[in-house]
Amino acid sequence: MKIAFLTDPLSQFKTYKDSTYAMMVEAGKRGYAVYAFGPDDMALESGKVVANISRVILTGDSHDWYRLEAAESLPLSAFDAILQRKDPPFDMEYIYSTYLLELAEQQGARVFNKPAAIRNHNEKLSIAQFSQFTAPTLVTRDEQRIRAFHREHQDIILKPLDGMGGTGIFRIREDGMNLGSVIETLTVNGSRTIMVQRYIPEIVHGDKRILLIGGKVVPFSLARIPQNGEVRGNLAAGGLGVAQELSASDLEIAQTLAPELYQRGLLLVGLDVIGSKLTEVNVTSPTCFQEITQQKGFNVAAMFIDALEAAVDEHVGND
Ligand SMILES: Nc1ncnc2c1ncn2[C@@H]1O[C@H](COP(=O)(O)OP(=O)(O)O)[C@@H](O)[C@H]1O
Ligand SMILES: [Mg+2]
Repeated sequence: MKIAFLTDPLSQFKTYKDSTYAMMVEAGKRGYAVYAFGPDDMALESGKVVANISRVILTGDSHDWYRLEAAESLPLSAFDAILQRKDPPFDMEYIYSTYLLELAEQQGARVFNKPAAIRNHNEKLSIAQFSQFTAPTLVTRDEQRIRAFHREHQDIILKPLDGMGGTGIFRIREDGMNLGSVIETLTVNGSRTIMVQRYIPEIVHGDKRILLIGGKVVPFSLARIPQNGEVRGNLAAGGLGVAQELSASDLEIAQTLAPELYQRGLLLVGLDVIGSKLTEVNVTSPTCFQEITQQKGFNVAAMFIDALEAAVDEHVGND
């Protein structure tokens, strides 16, 4: 198999924790040819979606871990699989890349996750499709509605719809101190829609990342536990990652969402669950593979490449 990764520059990878790196290594172990390119390498040219794509030679060394062969302009359809592993921001550039990838699919490329599905699943708003599992949530840019929600729920979290890694997360407690300023800042004076949610006190035990791969549930979550008085569990915000077994409610949420999301073209999904509440459905470039593998000995990357192989086969069968 020839697998091309659409990703951030390899020189920025931290090999001890990067999930894309773990995927590449697993693919390499199975004898697959690994390639890489970035969004800036892509073009629609003479009706074809192409990119300047380089073969990645994995050296086996964890520091000096790759060598890039000279880039060649190739149609995306020349590969058995294109793996979309570009991190957000999910801005218009990201959306344009999903349009290009969708055209590439029409030209025969197999892209995971499916670009249209990535575009259709805002990572915050998608929880509303599974409202039986969510904490009370309001989405609006109207200050009066936010104030009424605060009066009702007293302890709330406010967040932008396009944040990641814990950016722009605010907690406002019963006293409402600073609520006005936070509303102004996040809604940019009423011009941006945000999400407001009841504070879930179980966050002190961690924000659990539950991975869904090929419609199945990874049997361990990574609880990201806020440190030093932070409300944010994100590893990017200094959270401590502790791999653990799934609870009964984790399993119920994960098993309900897994087949449905896979059907929609999402090969890899990272759910965020606090206590028994679903707070995010991450579809752009979910991580935490290595932490789970290191702490529990469960090879997440192998499960992922297994699922990729099955998805590519299924796809070939369809043609
Ligand atoms: N309703 C909530 N109750 C308690 N903590 C929350 C809540 N929503 C978010 N958080 C905290 O903020 C962090 C980031 O929130 P999240 O919605 O996952 O956004 P992102 O990870 O995209 O920045 C979580 O890890 C958690 O610590
Ligand atoms: Mg999150």
